[in-house]
Amino acid sequence: MSQPLSIAVVGSGYVGLVAAVCFAEIGHHVICVDNDESKVKMLREGRVPIHEEYLEELLKRNTTNPVEFTSDLANATRRAQAIFIAVGTPQSKTGSADLSYVDAVASEIARSIDSYKVIVEKSTVPVYTNEWIRRVIERNGVPKELFDIASNPEFLREGTAVVDFLHADRIVVGAETERAGTLLKKIYEPLTNGSYYKKADAVPGICSEKNPPPILLTSTKAAEIIKHASNAFLAMKISFINVVANICEAVGADVEEVAKGIGSDGRIGPKFLRAGIGYGGSCFPKDVAAFRYVAEQLGVDFSLLKEVEAINEEQKRRFFQKVRSALWTFRGKRIGVLGLSFKGGTDDIRDSPALDIVQLLVKEGSTVVAFDPAAEARSKEVIPPSDKMLYVDSPYAAAQDADALLILSDWQEFADLDLKKLHYTLRYPIIIDGRNLYDPVDMIEHGFTYLSVGRPSLFHARDAASSSRQLP
Ligand SMILES: NC(=O)c1ccc[n+]([C@@H]2O[C@H](COP(=O)([O-])OP(=O)(O)OC[C@H]3O[C@@H](n4cnc5c(N)ncnc54)[C@H](O)[C@@H]3O)[C@@H](O)[C@H]2O)c1
Repeated sequence: MSQPLSIAVVGSGYVGLVAAVCFAEIGHHVICVDNDESKVKMLREGRVPIHEEYLEELLKRNTTNPVEFTSDLANATRRAQAIFIAVGTPQSKTGSADLSYVDAVASEIARSIDSYKVIVEKSTVPVYTNEWIRRVIERNGVPKELFDIASNPEFLREGTAVVDFLHADRIVVGAETERAGTLLKKIYEPLTNGSYYKKADAVPGICSEKNPPPILLTSTKAAEIIKHASNAFLAMKISFINVVANICEAVGADVEEVAKGIGSDGRIGPKFLRAGIGYGGSCFPKDVAAFRYVAEQLGVDFSLLKEVEAINEEQKRRFFQKVRSALWTFRGKRIGVLGLSFKGGTDDIRDSPALDIVQLLVKEGSTVVAFDPAAEARSKEVIPPSDKMLYVDSPYAAAQDADALLILSDWQEFADLDLKKLHYTLRYPIIIDGRNLYDPVDMIEHGFTYLSVGRPSLFHARDAASSSRQLP
């Protein structure tokens, strides 16, 4: 059995909280630090502030080795052997990553270092951030031999974060010294040696005792670049398939068939080839912008990423036009909306394309009746309820008497709707699906006019009588 280590995780958001709970799950002693006192209080009471499968269960189950929640970073620093920084790195006005939270945490850690520590960048940061953290810590008078900086980027996806963490495709560790690399390897040992997966109550996933996740040891700079480049590449894949979808639409081909054909090529792979209303969330938009900024600062032309961003914006506009083509005008229309989070399985609404579309609909004079299984509370902070923006508690309540129903997030429950019920609930049986959750032929057979992305728009006979094709 691996030796338990003392770990501090700074930041209890989507990454920090998941990392803290999973480090405890694999046997370590974990202190999770946040400067948001209300979050700390909530977590101490066993309540989880984010929607993430397995999180609450693991938090409750590890009672013999519970995660400690605190706002006292100084104390956590003194007690920990490794301190993971997992605070936010939002986009600044220039497009670069705003590293002020990382800077603040590094200074505070520096003031409390009294023995050797490894300070680990878990947040997504631009290359050279490790050098800046080192400088900040040395400026605060900490001798070189008392610390190392390592980079351990996180690749989890919201919605499946716990499973992604415990069943990673790979664990990347960037370290300059053997001492730091060895400590990080020890932390992940219960995963990399497969022992975790032998536990009867291990969270199930793709890894196993015989097939544990590989650990890649790199330089800190390479690890930093790996994270930015991975997210930029995935965003590029999404923008790529969205343009292909627009070509499919123009010629009447089905992008789902095309994506299957492309993705079956082992060099390309099927993931992230889902056409839709564009990427969003707290990572891709800001990480693409930050990586582009890094390239610019280094004098490297990476205008490819500018195109990725432009296509993503255009995709939302095109979808909005599609809604217009089905409804003609917006003022006075009642529009049901399924999904407000940036994707299914999460309550995260940061940079959600769904919210952008909803805001446009309200601005154009429609009444939006929205349902999201987890993101209602957060959405209300951005678009408060009003006579133009109603929040309801089921997909059918969103559809009730609506002129059309839009599907904007790919929650599984939106793919399993009772189509007969939906048909008689809607005022007009029009569905505009931004996530391609249904088969167009099946929808027309159920009596719907069905518009989706990158597939032929199918107008029901009743609609087709007056508009046998999509009008501009
Ligand atoms: N969300 C994701 O899916 C994801 C995936 C991989 C990587 N990342 C990266 O991980 C980092 C964190 O992302 P997130 O989504 O978890 O952010 P988040 O906003 O959900 O959480 C950040 C947390 O840090 C806390 N915090 C801020 N300043 C602090 C301080 N001085 N001391 C203690 N706590 C402080 C905040 O209160 C908040 O709880 C970002 O760099 C992000 O790009 C995110």
